[in-house]
This record gives sequence, C-alpha cells and structure tokens, in this order.
Amino acid sequence: MSTFQTLAGFRDFYPDDCAFRNFIFERFRQSAMTFGFEEYDAPILESMELFTAKSGEEIISQLFNFEDKGGRSVAMRPEMTPSLARMVGARASTLRRPIKWFSISEMFRYERPQKGRLRSFYQFNADVFGNESSYADAEIILLGIHMLKSFGLAAEDFHVRLSDRQLWTLFIRSHGIGEDDVPEVLGIIDKIEREEPSKTIESLDKICKGGGRKIFDNLLEIRTIHSINDVREFSKKIANDAFARRIDELAQLLARIKAFGVSDFVTIDFGIVRGLAYYTGFVFEIFERSGQSRALAGGGRYDNLIKRLGYADLPAVGFAIGDVTLGNLLKEKNIALEFSRNIHCFVVYSTQTETLALGQATMLREQKINTDYCLDPTTFSKQLKTAAQVNAKYAIIFGEEEAKTGHAKVKDMSSANEVVVEIDRLIEVISR
Ligand code: HAM
Repeated sequence: MSTFQTLAGFRDFYPDDCAFRNFIFERFRQSAMTFGFEEYDAPILESMELFTAKSGEEIISQLFNFEDKGGRSVAMRPEMTPSLARMVGARASTLRRPIKWFSISEMFRYERPQKGRLRSFYQFNADVFGNESSYADAEIILLGIHMLKSFGLAAEDFHVRLSDRQLWTLFIRSHGIGEDDVPEVLGIIDKIEREEPSKTIESLDKICKGGGRKIFDNLLEIRTIHSINDVREFSKKIANDAFARRIDELAQLLARIKAFGVSDFVTIDFGIVRGLAYYTGFVFEIFERSGQSRALAGGGRYDNLIKRLGYADLPAVGFAIGDVTLGNLLKEKNIALEFSRNIHCFVVYSTQTETLALGQATMLREQKINTDYCLDPTTFSKQLKTAAQVNAKYAIIFGEEEAKTGHAKVKDMSSANEVVVEIDRLIEVISR
C-alpha cells in the first residue's frame, strides 16, 4: 500500500521545523514592533477578482484558484498586498496616518518547486500608507535591513538592490514608446537575465518598430550603473528634465539611507524591475551577496493601487520577506539558532511521591515555568537521562526520604550540583 505524501511544494512542519519557523517569526515580529508597526491579518481565501484586477500576469498564472460550492470564483492568496489594500482602503478615512502595519502569513503560488521556491510559503509583510515622501521608502528599506541584521547577518551576507520604476518608465518613453506599452517593456526587462538576447530584441522590435537593438544596448548599459554619479552621466543621453529631477529624488533617498548608517547594505541596481504590476516608484529586492539564490525579499512603492481598487487616493510603500530563502541562508551560515526545547524544570518522582511531585509540577506550570516529567515514572536514573535529553535546566527530584520532611533535591543539569531545599522554597531556588 502506498503511503501519503505532501503535495509538491508543500511542507510538513515537524517540531524542529516548527521551532525554527517560530524562531524566524519571533525575530520578524520583534523587528516590526521595534519600528512601531501594528499587526493585522486577512483571509487566506479571497475572491479571484481581487488578484486578477491589479497584480499582473505572472501572479495570475500562478494562482491556486477554484470555484466554490456557491459558484464563486475564488483563489488562495499568492501575496498579501491586495487584501491589505482593501482593508486599508475600506477604513482610510478613520485610520491615523501614517498607517504602519505588518503581518506574518501563509501564501500559495503554483510555481515550479525548486530551491528557494515552493507552492506554499510564509511571508512577513510591512507597509506604510499615507506618506508620499521617501522617508517612508527609507523606513521600509531600513526595516528590511534591521530585520536581517537581527538574525546576525551582516553587509557581507546580503544587500538591497535598489531601482526605480519611474526612471525606467521615463527611459522607455524617451524611446518613443507609448504609456500603454510601458508595462510590457518592463516585463521584457524583468526577464532579460533569463532570456536569449535575440529574443529580447525581437520582443522590443515589435513594440518600437525596429528600434529594439538600440533600446537593448541602452538597457545593457543601464544595468551596469551602480552609483548616483553614473546615473547622472547616463542621463545626459536622455536629456530630459523629468529624468534629471527623478535622479535628485533617488539621491535624496540614498542620503536618507546614509544618514541612518546603512549605506553599505544598499546598491543601485537597475536590473531590478519587479514582476508585480502595481509598483509606481522606488523598488527593491534583497539578495544574498553571493547572488547564488533567489531573492530574500522584495518591495517598493505602489501609490495607485488603493485608488484603482475603488478606494481613496492613498500613497503606499512596503515589502515582503519569505521564510524559504531566508531559512536556507540561516542554515547555510550556521547562524546560532535559539530554538531548542525550553524546559526549565524536569520533575523526577516515584509512585510513592507521585501525588506530592505532580502537585508541585502543576504549581510550577501555573507560575508559567516550563515544566515536564516522565508520564510513566521509571527509575530515577532513566528519568534524569530524559531530563538531559530535553535540555532541562533543573531536575527536581522527589525522593521518599526528603519528601517525608517536606524537602526535594534540585539538580542543576549543567553543573550537576545538587541542593536539598524545602518544597516551599522551590520557586526561589529555580528562579536564580
Ligand atoms: P514578491 O517579490 O512576489 O513580493 O515576494 C516577496 C518574497 O516572498 C520573495 O522575495 C520571496 O522571499 C518570497 N516568495 C515569493 N514567492 C515565493 C515562493 N514561491 N516560494 C518561496 N518564497 C517565495 C510580493 O509578494 C509583494 N506583495 C511584496 C510587497 C509588499 N510589496 C509591497 N508590499
């Protein structure tokens, strides 16, 4: 008989995996709270339309969607941003601004499972609404950096690749390409690394009637730019005021990032375009420095989404980091993972002392002290072995002799020191 397995791209979380996941989530939550973000959540299942409306072709092709029993077209969320835009949009007039919200939630994308990419994964999302300035963009980038640093990762481990959809759009339009064709060209640019040059030129030719080669050569040059001076130099070719003004805004964002002391983590990189359709301004992805893996995180500004979903005009910027590539990186780097089972007291007893011992175990648990014991009391030595296996800090041994006088033995499991204490003083002793 064949046994059951998870679906491709889905994971079981055994206790060790769960502990690892919790460790990651705790760091996510801690960083977000440190930055003054509030937590929210939304349903996993949404109406299909929410995603087909504004997320872009790529995400739509990856939807887990079906018809429910009432004939409604529904989809498991592939990302949080549309649900969040709906929630914020619906209460836009009453929420205090800037709105700074975060969530930790499961996403579903029908992608080809591979290293760093699954069909079910978790994302931490953080977004700021109601602020148009690059202070908000900087806040989001800073949070991404702070969060990865909180795992012990440094500038030699990862970097933020910062780009700008507005500069890209101005560049594309400077080649005589109409507004309506810009998203398609951005899509071509997004795939340039994975595509044959001849195919890219062919696709560009179709849109700009034979000018594909020229754009392609410029595209290659833009992608080698990594400093603000190089951007300014390149802009001479475009000779466009709007382009020059936008470069000043990029310089301002970089100055803010510098003021926060994290410039080492940020690189200008126009290779980043972002696959999602709703971005309108600065965009970024965070990668492992070696460039070996898929992106750790991605985000950017999306000022029109809430309005286009039918709500108020509310500027927005945010990012998401996934648990899969980050988990792989932490494991590769052997980052000290503080997620071993956290048993403070292990109660050791015999059938004669059971009533006293288990009563004390209950008392400890009521005091929120992590306490465990063997469900079938075997010999004291076997119980002590179990205490060591679960990494208990103390073993509390209820021997018959000590129990007669209201005492128990407390053994410090790391030093093996033992002291006999009055049962009334147990908490005091194990709290030292
Ligand atoms: P995204 O770039 O599609 O952005 O996803 C962000 C991160 O989620 C990725 O960098 C990656 O770590 C993780 N991720 C995405 N797909 C998968 C997958 N199939 N398997 C494992 N991990 C994956 C967004 O989702 C935007 N909604 C982010 C955002 C928030 N923009 C503004 N606010």
